Amino acid sequence: MSRTDFTYVESVSPGSGRRDPRAALASDAAALSLDGEWRFNLAAGLHDTTEGFEAPGFDAAAWDTLAVPSMWQMTDLDGAAPYGKPQYTNTYYPFPVDPPRVPDANPTGEYRRTFTLPAEWPATGRTVLRFEGVDSAFAVWVNGTLLGDGKGSRLPTEFDATDHLAAGENTIAVRVHQWSAASYLEDQDMWWLSGIFRPVALVHRPEQGIEDVFAHADYDHATGLGTLRVEVASEIAANARVTVPELGIDIAAGETASVAVEPWTAETPRLYDAVVATDTERVSLRIGFRTVKIEDGLLKVNGKRILLRGVNRHEWDPDTGRTLTVETMRRDLEIMKRHNVNAVRTSHYPPDRRFLDLCDEIGVWVIDECDLETHGFVHHEWRDNPSDVPMWKEAYLDRMARMVERDKNHASVIIWSLGNESHTGANLAAMSQWAKERDPGRPIHYEGDWDSGYTDMYSRMYADHAETDRIGLKSEAPTNDPALDHHRRHEIPFVLCEYAHAMGNGPGGMSEYQRLFEQHERCQGGFIWEWIDHGVRLHTADGREWFAYGGDFDEPIHDGNFVIDGLIFPNREPSPGLVEFKKVVEPVRITVQPGSRAVTVANLRDFADTGDLKYTWAVEDEGVTVAEGELEIRAVAAGESAIVEFPAAVAALGAAGGERWLTVRAVLAKDESWADAGHEIAWGQGQLAAAAPVAAGERTPAVAEDRGYRLGNAAFDALGRLTAIGGLEVEGPRLDLWRAPTDNDLLGWGVPLVNEWRDRNAALYRLEHKVLGIKSTEDGLTVATRVGAGGAAIAMGAVYRWRREGGRLWLTVEVAPEGKWDFPLPRLGVRASVPKGLNEVEWFGGGPGEAYADTRAAARVGRFRSTVAGMQTPYVFPQENGSRIDVRWASLSGEGRTLKVFGAPEFAFTVRPWTSEDLDAARHPHDLVERDRLYVNLDAGLQGVGSAACGPGVLPQHRLLPEAAAFTLGFEVTE
Ligand code: GAL
Repeated sequence: MSRTDFTYVESVSPGSGRRDPRAALASDAAALSLDGEWRFNLAAGLHDTTEGFEAPGFDAAAWDTLAVPSMWQMTDLDGAAPYGKPQYTNTYYPFPVDPPRVPDANPTGEYRRTFTLPAEWPATGRTVLRFEGVDSAFAVWVNGTLLGDGKGSRLPTEFDATDHLAAGENTIAVRVHQWSAASYLEDQDMWWLSGIFRPVALVHRPEQGIEDVFAHADYDHATGLGTLRVEVASEIAANARVTVPELGIDIAAGETASVAVEPWTAETPRLYDAVVATDTERVSLRIGFRTVKIEDGLLKVNGKRILLRGVNRHEWDPDTGRTLTVETMRRDLEIMKRHNVNAVRTSHYPPDRRFLDLCDEIGVWVIDECDLETHGFVHHEWRDNPSDVPMWKEAYLDRMARMVERDKNHASVIIWSLGNESHTGANLAAMSQWAKERDPGRPIHYEGDWDSGYTDMYSRMYADHAETDRIGLKSEAPTNDPALDHHRRHEIPFVLCEYAHAMGNGPGGMSEYQRLFEQHERCQGGFIWEWIDHGVRLHTADGREWFAYGGDFDEPIHDGNFVIDGLIFPNREPSPGLVEFKKVVEPVRITVQPGSRAVTVANLRDFADTGDLKYTWAVEDEGVTVAEGELEIRAVAAGESAIVEFPAAVAALGAAGGERWLTVRAVLAKDESWADAGHEIAWGQGQLAAAAPVAAGERTPAVAEDRGYRLGNAAFDALGRLTAIGGLEVEGPRLDLWRAPTDNDLLGWGVPLVNEWRDRNAALYRLEHKVLGIKSTEDGLTVATRVGAGGAAIAMGAVYRWRREGGRLWLTVEVAPEGKWDFPLPRLGVRASVPKGLNEVEWFGGGPGEAYADTRAAARVGRFRSTVAGMQTPYVFPQENGSRIDVRWASLSGEGRTLKVFGAPEFAFTVRPWTSEDLDAARHPHDLVERDRLYVNLDAGLQGVGSAACGPGVLPQHRLLPEAAAFTLGFEVTE
């Protein structure tokens, strides 16, 4: 290949001049990091590249510098964005599909740097240049000589540089292309970003060193024995010794040792330090003994069925894209473990190798997924899909080999995944076959093969609850190929590699999925889509931070905010969805049973007992702690339960001063690597005493006044609308059926709900209120209205019955649908506005976070305080948020006044400095401008949230169906 030979760019070949793939090893051989500032020039395409840039004598002094590792489009996005901008598409290729050709407009980065080979660099052996990840294709020169080229963005590539290195200063040059033939294999749902985005290093390969290691560390649960056999690829493998000092193991490579060990599991990530050594090299390994098998149709580790409480993790950082620091990787795992996540699918490519070291250490099950997705071909009926076109076979096998070889020594990696959404085909089957031969110790996953002909688990994404139930019962529809039905139905387990799409507010329905996973042995859990919102951090002109999504960079084709669908926000703050997931999948279930005055602790873990936990209890009367203490509960074995009586102190308590609850919490007894002692793992609550009923009192008559009505201290205008309570200006409350649509309302499988809500026949976002009659009587004030939108055929009758009783103002709203309402309502309640100064919020009810009908597991009953700002959930795409559920009372205070609202018995409420219409109109949080009033929604109900942005909608039991209903609220103002 001459310097200007660019044929590799559009070649389906995975590369040339590369070394064979091998394990990522911690070796004592010399190494030199080449990370840091490189000279950089961005060419518009191959036609625009710099002739001779690789020559040592080339003068690049005028070029900019760029950090390696980094992604060039992530440079100075608030400013000049010198290297182009990110672009986001989900499934569509952003270029014309004409494999393997790519556009002439092919941004090409030219990188150069010099480095000095340290004087002590060994003179013998080989010296290898290792790239951990370059997106998407590249060629490499050392001192002007071409070493080769490579593809496979999220996979390592090594070149032998020995013969081209000189003592002292050397020059390395790399040309990186945004688009290449490989782009057809890398159509994952994420930002298109380019560059040398993972570390680069020069590593020495000693003569007679340890080229590769495959540690087979099995665990026999019947005998408690661990078996270790380490294959070493080395010219002198026979001389390599394997030692595990802690286990007294000292064997030759290839030999087998069996000793009693503590097994590795995600719950008990026990690792043993091992060394593999020849005379010239020492490699450190961290060995976890475990055995993964598909047996009796189940995925078993160490002889036991495991339950995956997983997340799909893309690598993402709002400032650097897919270039992550080790601190960020560790932080992800800490947040996961703190939220009871026990599994990661590395969607949809192998992660930075250091992430897997942390998975071994901290303990999560990993599905390691190959860097492969050809989703865009779906728009061409999968015509020419590389998965079934022979010319791509080598590239497929190469990718699989590079993943398996790199990651084969990780205890945490229990399953290999062929890739994602690449339909089916012979090339996928070949990958599977190769991997099974190379590593019989790990089952194969791939979702695109619904018949499961070449996979070891039946994997699906977004199957709804009903189908998941059928699969659990083995009564699902047959396979397309009848010959495969028995295998799929009876021989392999089921996993949802993606479910519960965490886009915006939600996902709803996780509790119901979890019940199915617990009920059906065959359903071994799943992985929430997805871990993090891929928002790009930007700032407004006045310095306020915001997160960009598709379209914010003027991409001609994009998929909007579909990339904002994670359980954590781009800044890694947990979203309510993650808090909900933590509760839904809690590994210990605490049930407080007031009837039998007992507390049950069920250990839902697969291996570990509960010896790492301790328990606290508290009794609260109307949210105020009246007694608390610790509860002794013996360690409960995995799968077992313990029952203890209520603490004696609870029995000794006097009469309840209000609604009384007992809360029992399980917390870490001591520090773990991922959380401190005291961190809460699980909780349970039981009601010990109900609230005393509100005593009926004297009623105050309503009186007509000059320009309205008066009912005690409440004033109404001539249309019967409340204007003030005491001296406090309160506008409304009036019927409100609208919510700013959530992503799940907006996208929706089938017909998005929002289409019905916005349809002219309903137009719930622009309801008008017509007064039909007002009656003021001895009992209070009655205002009859009809609520409907201009042009709409349907309406809602709403009658407001106001009464003043026992010193409190009460409102009963009776609603009656008129016409054909054949869709669920967004919400049913009233909205009022109050003065802005009432900024302090307190409530007794569900909290502390937002909760909706189908996202309410994490809401416990208690007394909570916040501010209006604190009541908003900062979804990257503004939408309905922040509603608190099961609220008995809520108060808004400020400027010396308090408005308290009472439920009869409960309501849901939101308070915001803007309206639902403002939220609906906003595209980013910084579009929201505070008004000079606060808007309060007091709801009898809200439609559940569901997961319809990608997956099933709201389950029937969580739908808010329009029907005749009445609800009551009380109001009190104090100074
Ligand atoms: C799946 C896909 C994911 C993501 C998700 C929707 O089909 O595997 O990568 O696109 O849908 O967010």
